Amino acid sequence: MPEHLTVVEHPLVQHKLTLMRDADTPTGLFRQLLREISTLLAYEVTRDLPVTTRRVHTPLESMDAPVLDGRKLALVSILRAGNGLLDGMLDLMPSARVGFVGLYRDEETLEPVQYYCKLPEALPERRVIVVDPMLATGNSSAAAIALVKGAGAVDIRFLCLLAAPEGVRRMADAHPDVPVVTAAVDERLNEMGYIVPGLGDAGDRMYGTR
Ligand code: URA
Repeated sequence: MPEHLTVVEHPLVQHKLTLMRDADTPTGLFRQLLREISTLLAYEVTRDLPVTTRRVHTPLESMDAPVLDGRKLALVSILRAGNGLLDGMLDLMPSARVGFVGLYRDEETLEPVQYYCKLPEALPERRVIVVDPMLATGNSSAAAIALVKGAGAVDIRFLCLLAAPEGVRRMADAHPDVPVVTAAVDERLNEMGYIVPGLGDAGDRMYGTR
């Protein structure tokens, strides 16, 4: 993945994202759509995983067939909305280890405050995919990535559903070595730090809270 930012323009992703944006989409469907999109985005964010070959014997003959080269994977969810992306990704990568970073956004400063951190072992040997549906100011995402770097991770990707230009810039400044994969980059952030037009508060829409 050479570019810092990849926007996944696949029609299935875009269609599902449009349904998620609709304020009338109910909680259960919203969660289901997020799970489905996360599987499609997982496909994109793992596109450059290294492969090697393994000798297999098909019913007809033998061949050297491609397999993952054994690099271990870790998914790190930024609580709580990041959890909405986990299950769909784990469907594709069932043996990935999973970590959690708890950050809440101070409503006045919009700065992240850490309240929880539990990361898998051996992060330096893993491809680490940090997930959060909304890349808004980028403060939480940048802080979460600083945490995983602090734990030794060097091969890191950031996966989100929607990004604001401000968040993309913040990530590029803070972590130029971390490619970002998203389904869309929206217009802007509003004065409350929400992505516009966006889809509202992803955690609230996912879990039916307010
Ligand atoms: N977090 C959300 O859930 N939505 C936004 O628009 C911005 C941050």
